Amino acid sequence: MAEVKIAPSVLASNFGKLAEEIQAVDQAGCDWIHLDVMDGHFVPNLTFGPPIIQSVRSATDKVFDAHLMVSNPDRLLEAYQKAGADIITVHAEVCDHLDRTLAQIRELGCRAGVSLNPHTSEDCLHYVLDRVDLVLVMSVNPGFGGQSFIPTVVDKIARIRDVLGGRDVDIEVDGGITPETAPSVVAAGATALVAGSAVFKGGSIEAYRDNIQAIRNAVKDQR
Ligand code: DX5
Ligand code: ZN
Repeated sequence: MAEVKIAPSVLASNFGKLAEEIQAVDQAGCDWIHLDVMDGHFVPNLTFGPPIIQSVRSATDKVFDAHLMVSNPDRLLEAYQKAGADIITVHAEVCDHLDRTLAQIRELGCRAGVSLNPHTSEDCLHYVLDRVDLVLVMSVNPGFGGQSFIPTVVDKIARIRDVLGGRDVDIEVDGGITPETAPSVVAAGATALVAGSAVFKGGSIEAYRDNIQAIRNAVKDQR
């Protein structure tokens, strides 16, 4: 089985030197770069959009995993693709036409992701199974880094794995992931882990490498 992907969330990085931070986690051995886009509307917080993503695209060849916590994702899908996003994930809660939005993401040549807040049922996935490349399971309420993992999502991940059947769809888990919480979500079927605070602590490439390795070690026997 493929190794679990580790996706550091730049939300926990030093935004004053974002390109260097991305290069540091690249050299520290991450798989994807998780980009938390927040609009101050769907979630209370604000971060960045396509111009910032474009400005750091040349810092790494790693997959850019864009998590759009925005109320109207359809308006800017092409801008995120042009800025360099490889995966574009939208929230089911804000998509009136989820089937169409996911199809548009694929038409742009990106992998299409759908994210579910902790309270959101996985039922909608039944109807978009052939449109989706990734399910992003929120294990905190989105908007902020450094929150505590919500354990009820573990059973939800197992249910999502059942819904997906044998399809080649990643299940990525986001929020409160540490070496302590990661094993249960991987055992339930997660194939990718977002980690912000747990990766960007220590402030150096060496620390980031140790932090990423600690998560990898914690999950290596869980799949
Ligand atoms: C929360 C974001 C997460 C966040 C995770 O709204 O989607 O990606 O940065 O941060 P940690 O790993 O610190 O919970
Ligand atoms: Zn995220």
